[in-house]
Amino acid sequence: MSDDSTPAERPPRRVRYRGKNPRRFEEKYKEHQPGRYSDTITKVLASGKTPAGSHRPIMVAEVLAALSPQPGEIAVDCTLGFGGHAEELLRRLLPGGRLIGLDADPVELPKTTARLEKLGFDKSAFTAHRINFAGLAQLLPREKISGVDLILADLGVSSMQLDDPKRGFSLKHDGPLDLRMNPDRGAPARELLQKLSADKLARLLLANSDESNPTLASRLAGRTLSTTRELAEAVRDSLSGLKEEERELSVRRVFQALRIAVNDELSALDTFLRNLPECLNSRGRLAILTFHSGEDRRVKKAFENGIREGHYSEIAAEVVRPTAEERGANPRATSAKLRWARRA
Ligand SMILES: C[S@@+](CC[C@H](N)C(=O)[O-])C[C@H]1O[C@@H](n2cnc3c(N)ncnc32)[C@H](O)[C@@H]1O
Repeated sequence: MSDDSTPAERPPRRVRYRGKNPRRFEEKYKEHQPGRYSDTITKVLASGKTPAGSHRPIMVAEVLAALSPQPGEIAVDCTLGFGGHAEELLRRLLPGGRLIGLDADPVELPKTTARLEKLGFDKSAFTAHRINFAGLAQLLPREKISGVDLILADLGVSSMQLDDPKRGFSLKHDGPLDLRMNPDRGAPARELLQKLSADKLARLLLANSDESNPTLASRLAGRTLSTTRELAEAVRDSLSGLKEEERELSVRRVFQALRIAVNDELSALDTFLRNLPECLNSRGRLAILTFHSGEDRRVKKAFENGIREGHYSEIAAEVVRPTAEERGANPRATSAKLRWARRA
């Protein structure tokens, strides 16, 4: 017992694994406890990998330059994830400012909230909401806020979601074919695949990931594929005539297209982009990180319309990309594109 009579915290029992090093997500017990094993975390980061159960924030310097957070301002991080961007913003908004964090994911959000609270950001500085960012315009009046100074959205999925096989996003490790950011809502990818016609699946693959191979949709539509490995194998088998590189690209595209459909990501983005000007204070700043062309096209068009309609006074003339150094250190940053806008 510790001296305040609460039971002393025991370190979690080490998961047993075969071989010298843990390979599976749940076996990487040191990476799951960064506070106790900081040397392991340093080694994993130096090798260009993301420690299990965490996420490395992307283009932090560029995001901060675009948002220019100042003490006393109010920010919304619409895609809280692991809270890496949020932490950097909070350090610059205090004293006097606050950050509202949103995320659709009920599994990771409580962990991130606890992590930020442990860093000393109390409820006057940081509050979290498990909602889809499409509902931002409705949330602000409920929080008695008429407008905010900064808005950040870092689209897509987090490394915690991608790497945990139980969530059904992982290409590397087998898991249920799910792909939902919120496992309590909607239907998993295996159900979608089972009920889609070949025509509908072909349209979905093209719209959500530029996948245009003519045979893929007819080979996959209506199939009962329960796990991520079964889907990946089915894609590879359908494209057996292609080079391995092209097959693997198609595997990634099929997963991306189904994920976007299962989470209705593009309609959420459209609603969010439409409502943004009414959520921002005059001279408020906005930054959006996208990871594929379907997202970036929408952001670019919404910002250009916003300038024409007088909502924004300035927008990024060119898309901002991660430095070669960041791409080398974190391959997950490779496809990131940042666009920013300033409210008139
Ligand atoms: C790329 S991660 C964000 C990482 C974060 N910037 C960080 O530094 O850790 C994207 C996050 O946004 C969430 N997300 C994606 N689309 C969303 C939506 N429409 N509404 C709310 N959250 C969403 C995902 O659940 C995921 O946690």
